[in-house]
Amino acid sequence: MARRVLSVASEAVPLIKTGGLADVAGALPGALASHGVTMTTLLPGFPAVMLGVKRPKVLHRYKSLLGEPARLVAGKLGAHPLIVLDAPGLFARDGGPYSDPAGQDWEDNWRRFAAFGRAAADLVGGLVEGLEFDLVHAHDWQAGMALAYLRFAPVANSAPKPSVMTIHNMAFQGYFPEQIFGELGLPASAWSIEGVESYGGVGFLKAGMEAASLITTVSPTYAREIRQGEFGMGLDGLVRSRGTRVRGILNGIDTAEWNPVGDPYLARNYSHRTLAARAANKRALEAEFGLEPGEGPLFVVVSRLTWQKGMDVLVEVLDHLVRVGGRLALLGSGDEATVEGLKAGAARHPGRIGLKIGYDEGLSHRLQAGGDAILVPSRFEPCGLTQLYSLAYGCVPVVARTGGLADTVIDANLAALDAGTTTGVQFNGVTHAELADAIDRTLQLWRSPAAWRQLQRNGMKADFSWVQSGKAYAELYRELTGAMG
Ligand code: ADP
Ligand code: GLC
Repeated sequence: MARRVLSVASEAVPLIKTGGLADVAGALPGALASHGVTMTTLLPGFPAVMLGVKRPKVLHRYKSLLGEPARLVAGKLGAHPLIVLDAPGLFARDGGPYSDPAGQDWEDNWRRFAAFGRAAADLVGGLVEGLEFDLVHAHDWQAGMALAYLRFAPVANSAPKPSVMTIHNMAFQGYFPEQIFGELGLPASAWSIEGVESYGGVGFLKAGMEAASLITTVSPTYAREIRQGEFGMGLDGLVRSRGTRVRGILNGIDTAEWNPVGDPYLARNYSHRTLAARAANKRALEAEFGLEPGEGPLFVVVSRLTWQKGMDVLVEVLDHLVRVGGRLALLGSGDEATVEGLKAGAARHPGRIGLKIGYDEGLSHRLQAGGDAILVPSRFEPCGLTQLYSLAYGCVPVVARTGGLADTVIDANLAALDAGTTTGVQFNGVTHAELADAIDRTLQLWRSPAAWRQLQRNGMKADFSWVQSGKAYAELYRELTGAMG
């Protein structure tokens, strides 16, 4: 019998995306279909999601879901089943999915995502006749309460269901003050250290982790790192206590979406056999960013401009990057101070540093196809997708040795160079000195065209498709649902 999984996520491509979570949630149903898993995705009814639901079929109407009228409607996520929680009072707003147009978190985020979790628990509990699920898979804090409701306040007479809680980023825990507890509709027994209580407040991610049959995160190294205080961010003790019930499964990439051979966003398509054709993309990128042509490598960055991503250190290293002969094209949005620092750097180095502040899917593809090397100086990185895209596009990744970056890039040390296996450059510790040194090492490699070509080819031939990861999730579901045949 096929396994029926409800995947609960706050974003999924192609409907709504602020980061890698959307790429992963969007790709999972396709990755699992060949393993006999039918995955239905539940999304909040943000405006972009509602626009994408053609002729919605109403599955259920709530008079009041945590105080708001709401409906569950069915649609499609690509070729796969989708259910949307349409609750205009909670989700029909301008601004981002989690923050207002000024970038401040919505004050009622706890209510918005508690309602989302309640709806997920109701669906898994059999709220809609004819719609059954064998397992629920929750992503990040926005979905964590689904597992808490299933545990403490399930639909009457419903059988318990196995669950997976995937942590895409431990830095976002959905932590709210104690006062909201009374409004969640949970029994008093849920208010405990093994329940939803977290450091005196309510922790949505923590609640999901406590309730989950299994916890996963998105790379083996990050699964180890979050056992320590620095990366566990207060939940390291809980991670350690779950022992082998915490696993790391590396994300894959959608190779239909991210493939330089057929990518419609590029000036010129190419493969690892026709690398010379890449030059046309580099020239197009230089023109798009107003950069002068040059001998040195064209570095690129596609990133949220935040502390996690080490973008403050990038700002400090701009002068060095230009001094040693590099140029930079950057696409990103985020912290005001970082944007100011980048703008000042670009003003000091016209024609050498080009910026596009904002969000642009097509440009993110063109940067991977036209850049020589991508800089990913993250302080922590649960998996990271930009370096996986860059490997597939022959844009050499220069990454901090942490989380998924450590797991996916093979550093160009002497042994790896000799063995011909290297795919990029890794460095330890996100500091000015380390990043500057990594840039210097990249330039050294760049000066040897044969070594550079090999780096590019190795990366392009590496397999980071969903094949392996899809299999790993399918095995996990099988382990949890037992011998269903
Ligand atoms: P995170 O989810 O922590 O931001 P990932 O590397 O996992 O990091 O995923 C980031 C995703 O968001 C990638 O698909 C990347 O291409 C995309 N991205 C980040 N910033 C931008 C931007 N400004 N414009 C377009 N895409 C972006
Ligand atoms: C988070 C992490 C990133 C990961 C993505 C998808 O946004 O920051 O490292 O790749 O989730 O799992």
